[in-house]
Amino acid sequence: MASSKVVILGTGGTIAGTAASATDAVGYAAAQLGVAQLVAAVPALASRSLECEQVAQLDSKDMDHATWQRLAQRAAHHLARPDVAGVVVTHGTDTLEETAYLLHRVLAPAKPLVLTAAMRPATALMTDGPQNLLDAVTVALDAQAGGVVVAFGGRVWAGAEVRKVHTYRIDAFAAGDAGPLATVEEGSVRWSRAAPKTQALGLAAIAADPARWPRVEIVLNHAGAGGMLVDALVAQGVQGVVVAGTGNGAVHHVLEAALLRAQGAGVRVLRSTRCASGPVIGEAALPSAGALTAVQARVELMLQMLPTE
Ligand code: SIN
Repeated sequence: MASSKVVILGTGGTIAGTAASATDAVGYAAAQLGVAQLVAAVPALASRSLECEQVAQLDSKDMDHATWQRLAQRAAHHLARPDVAGVVVTHGTDTLEETAYLLHRVLAPAKPLVLTAAMRPATALMTDGPQNLLDAVTVALDAQAGGVVVAFGGRVWAGAEVRKVHTYRIDAFAAGDAGPLATVEEGSVRWSRAAPKTQALGLAAIAADPARWPRVEIVLNHAGAGGMLVDALVAQGVQGVVVAGTGNGAVHHVLEAALLRAQGAGVRVLRSTRCASGPVIGEAALPSAGALTAVQARVELMLQMLPTE
């Protein structure tokens, strides 16, 4: 018989946030309610076979590498259980795309690993968290689901593609040039396409003490850009730099000169774009990050440079 248990890992975020007033959707504290409380607030989940585990309790702007490592380990542990159909992670929206990309590259599980979140705190008049959580469990139990995906706002996004595109609206996510993988309507999932696949790096790739993970920073190209930041980063021992270029990954000639100096000194450099959609196309002096956003490229570069023990 197919397994029907879903494990829900809590990490905090607005989905677990509370405000003093039901009409306050910005002046709230994230990460106040435990994951079991989030589940208890959704009556439709009462009939499901669920297990909850609090992996972290933070505002995802404060996400750190140690939490990523623990989350990946706990998700892998539960996904390996024969009685578990899938794992759901409740998360903040702010760095959801980075966590999703990291889990995609490290675990790329056959079973569904579904991240979800909310733009409104749990106390809001029209909170989106309960529906998103219900949809995430629906996706985790769907026979066609697999890999790292994000269930949010009635849509399912690929962990490899998703990005936050709005500061306030409850349809805050998109996937650049790619559309959603599926929609969730009245408890059923309607798939449009399969999620992109990757060769999982495996948990061993991130086993190193997070204090030893390489330092990779992001700099932005803009009118009047200079090389001061890059020079300072190199002086501080940075190991990788992602530049979010203008347009098709273009970089001001002064900033480019600093990045080439850094590259010559052994710093890994990747060139992405500050545009919301579209890959960096073609060759230039600095290597392209392809279709990765700047924050995804930062994760990718860090994963490529992690020490193996
Ligand atoms: C967070 O990312 O933890 C706070 C913001 C949000 O979840 O929308």
